[in-house]
Amino acid sequence: MSTIPEQNPLLELSPQDLRAHAAAALTRARERSVALTDAVDDEDLVRQHSKLMSPLVWDLAHIGSQEELWLVRDVGGREPLRPDIDDLYDAFQHARADRPALPLLGPAEARAYVREVREKAFDVLETAPMEGRRLTESAFAFGMITQHEQQHDETMLATHQLRKGEPVLHAPEPPRAPARKLPAEVLVPGGRFTMGTTAEPWALDNERPAHEVDVPAFVLDTAPVTCGAYVEFLESGGYHDQRFWSEPGWAYRQEHDITAPRFWRREPDGWWRTRFGVRERVPENEPVVHVSYYEAEAYTRWAGKRLPTEAEWEKAARHDPESGRSRRFPWGDEEPTAEHANLGQRHLRAAEAGAYPAGASPLGVHQLIGDVWEWTSTGFHGYPGFAAFPYREYSEVFFGPEYKILRGGSFGTDAAAIRGTFRNWDYPIRRQIFSGFRCARDPRPGEAG
Ligand SMILES: [Fe+2]
Repeated sequence: MSTIPEQNPLLELSPQDLRAHAAAALTRARERSVALTDAVDDEDLVRQHSKLMSPLVWDLAHIGSQEELWLVRDVGGREPLRPDIDDLYDAFQHARADRPALPLLGPAEARAYVREVREKAFDVLETAPMEGRRLTESAFAFGMITQHEQQHDETMLATHQLRKGEPVLHAPEPPRAPARKLPAEVLVPGGRFTMGTTAEPWALDNERPAHEVDVPAFVLDTAPVTCGAYVEFLESGGYHDQRFWSEPGWAYRQEHDITAPRFWRREPDGWWRTRFGVRERVPENEPVVHVSYYEAEAYTRWAGKRLPTEAEWEKAARHDPESGRSRRFPWGDEEPTAEHANLGQRHLRAAEAGAYPAGASPLGVHQLIGDVWEWTSTGFHGYPGFAAFPYREYSEVFFGPEYKILRGGSFGTDAAAIRGTFRNWDYPIRRQIFSGFRCARDPRPGEAG
């Protein structure tokens, strides 16, 4: 096992450069929030497009409210701007389904509020110390608030997908895959690796601390399961064969009459889907998206495989077999670029399997970062030595087997809110998120060498 420490470009920055980095990250997040909320009219902003989601105008003011709480009041020690609305935008006080009935800020008020908070937050950033207090060490609080806004932007993107009506979002098509097909699987040799992180300045509490985990050899698909492969499962009757489903998965399938991924429809001439208001044929070579954990699990059983554990996923994504070191990303320590991964809503869909060769891991596993969130078979728990920070409600209150971990981010996840250690969690029935999966399996006798 190597003792080479984790690398991180942020640790090299001067306080002035850190402030500039944080300001740029906050600005990029805000441009996205504005684009997502300006894309629809006021009536659409206050409407609830699905019981699963908040009205877009709630997300917008909630972004401002969290920024006010952490950056303006806590880090800056400033007077509250709107203490009267704290409760309205506290996600723990009101379930999503109940939010439309609250006396929320209207679109114009919400926009003015987030602008005012941002001005104050930038003012705080100019003089905030970048060390001495854990909350501001390496601009952590600014990074946390950036990630929070980007996470809500992804949620708002999911709301756009649930919205009925003409397309309002537009983006160029993602790159195509090279003609040469990827090998289907790779063997990841057994052994210890470093999971989680201690050095990553903007990592959240649930990613910490770095710790060693022994992962036996396993075989992993080089790409997420594609729509084409998923159609084979569908067409062979996989949704109606209880053998492939776990008990709760089968109950869920029966109760909600789940017969295909969300937003798919069987037409006389094949499978079609709706994507941000565009009706289109299901693309064969693109990773399947909008499947629940239970559907993913059923597919893997049909294929004679299983979902990877969270540790397997992270080992495939970070472990460099040559140096023994864990990297920040499959390709190395540098921040994601457009060559590495399909992130940041640059495109409004996942890219074909194999479309990002520059983002592959040393063992040749592709698209671990970006495209679709990948379900793992692991429940949500704290790593050994976990300490809640800066508050229990960030992650700790969600720990438990009822949530499943998703990894890697989607085309709707910004680079600021993803890394090899980043952990997302959701209920196994959820599929309005940009969720897909890839298969793993145990090596066959003799295969592991
Ligand atoms: Fe939030």
